[in-house]
Amino acid sequence: MLNKKIIRKIDASRLSEKLKENIKTKYIESEQWYAQSNLNYTCIFSSYISHTLTEITLLNKHAVSIAKLPPNLIFYGLGFGYSEIELLKLLIKKNKKIDVIGIDIQEDFITGFIQSLNNICYEDKKYNIDFVGIKGLFQELQKTDFDILKGRKAHIIFGNTIGNFKYEKIFGILNKYTNKTDILLMGFQTDNFFEKKVRQYQDNAMLNSFIKKAINTSKDKTLIWKVNEKESQIEVWMDDILIGYSKKTNPVEMIKTAEKYGFKNIEMFNENSTAIQIYEKI
Ligand SMILES: C[S@@+](CC[C@H](N)C(=O)[O-])C[C@H]1O[C@@H](n2cnc3c(N)ncnc32)[C@H](O)[C@@H]1O
Repeated sequence: MLNKKIIRKIDASRLSEKLKENIKTKYIESEQWYAQSNLNYTCIFSSYISHTLTEITLLNKHAVSIAKLPPNLIFYGLGFGYSEIELLKLLIKKNKKIDVIGIDIQEDFITGFIQSLNNICYEDKKYNIDFVGIKGLFQELQKTDFDILKGRKAHIIFGNTIGNFKYEKIFGILNKYTNKTDILLMGFQTDNFFEKKVRQYQDNAMLNSFIKKAINTSKDKTLIWKVNEKESQIEVWMDDILIGYSKKTNPVEMIKTAEKYGFKNIEMFNENSTAIQIYEKI
């Protein structure tokens, strides 16, 4: 059985206000890419998503480790939720009852995720899921928003969402929301095949068109893709505005970064240019 609820903390007008502020400060924050769900459906998620498929492969290869996670899950950024659902399926087989919070600024992704959870509950009558969707920004939540989950929690951030933030910012957020012994699980892109990735982005006409629509700019504008080696990230620029970036991080470097914020690495799995790492908050 599925119990579900959505808590709304942000609306479209506030997001478009934020976009105007971002343009003034010449840096567009990553949530803007997802502010209009129809664009994501028709473009960004429609081409081959090798990172997500590899995350799913890794989850299934390491199902025994995944099934040990506490059945109180917080997902940061649902998108289409494929990796999230795969993880949840591995856990629910063992636990039967799972409590889940899903955070996203895009309500359509939350609604779609509810539908996926419903489908899982139809697979076995013994399955019980309590789900709360939070339509809001990760950076604007309070730790008390997670009090609905009792006991030890697993904080999960898939799809290289982490790579769209400065690490001091995203780890600062995760550090604030986690309790001692909580688990952090991250799926991210590694620094293998950097040059190929720039070409994949730069030559993807649908992606370039999507970005221009997402930030409401003319289709005649040109986007410039660059490698910023110092920050280990691929950046996209329009004139002097940094439209976004995606970090590609060496797995060993990631462990060192996470350690600074009180997370101890307990497991890691890599394949191609995808990594999944599991940490415990100490
Ligand atoms: C890169 S996608 C990954 C989606 C999914 N986890 C996956 O692996 O396919 C990032 C997701 O996080 C959401 N998101 C990005 N920045 C956010 C923020 N600051 N607060 C809340 N949600 C955010 C987006 O709407 C999008 O659904």
